[in-house]
Amino acid sequence: MEVVLLADARQVARLAADTIEATVAAKPQAVLGLATGSTPLPTYQELIRRHRAGLGPSYDQVRCFTLDEYVGLPPGHQQSYRATIARELTDPLGIPPDRVHGPDPSPEGLASAGERYEQELTAAGGVDIQVLGIGTDGHLAFNEPGSALTSLTRLKTLTAETRQANARFFGSVAAVPRHVLTQGLGTILRARHLLLLATGAAKADAVAAAVEGPLSASCPASVLQLHRHVSVLVDEEAAAGLARREHYREVYAAKPCWQGL
Ligand code: PGA
Repeated sequence: MEVVLLADARQVARLAADTIEATVAAKPQAVLGLATGSTPLPTYQELIRRHRAGLGPSYDQVRCFTLDEYVGLPPGHQQSYRATIARELTDPLGIPPDRVHGPDPSPEGLASAGERYEQELTAAGGVDIQVLGIGTDGHLAFNEPGSALTSLTRLKTLTAETRQANARFFGSVAAVPRHVLTQGLGTILRARHLLLLATGAAKADAVAAAVEGPLSASCPASVLQLHRHVSVLVDEEAAAGLARREHYREVYAAKPCWQGL
């Protein structure tokens, strides 16, 4: 695991955008794993800015897979993750909707939705780079504490803490769906490169538990410790709980210039 401490959210966004662009430049048919939530938005805005300025790679051949989706929203709801990712990233990058995949929350197919999504991911050849955020309770995608470390895409129930955190998108806690479809922790571990982004003081405890705590289903993001290629990009506030901060700084400062993330 490589932990990169950066001054602020803007620097996190720049380095994350560099890394995603490098993946697409090296493999124009790359499969991008996309997270929703607030944390990746500056990264997505940076990618869009560069694309509009003619600086980024071509996204003509990429395919995208979202991590999760709410269950129970009317089709096309603006807070559905399908609509969110289209609005915040893939439409502005010119990636057509048929190249953007997400778990299917339609009521009649819920029992098989997880398995069908796993098949889609496998058929696409797996995810090349997976953008991840982290919940204040250590959740990864919508894998709440207690989720099996080997889990696959399935229906889950959100914790009260997560519904409270997401109420800002819906106007009230009551309007936040209780159920979601989410990639499992085992699904996420199959991606070739994991890029965890965390900014702000509210994430400091979760980041410390995920990076330096014990491997435990009580902190689902600690499963990252099992993956061979994880980059954790944190601002100073989100890094505040890390005991080995100085070591991470030293490692990054001495990183060979030929070695990307
Ligand atoms: P946030 O959400 O980026 O909006 O903080 C992260 C998460 O809940 O996984």
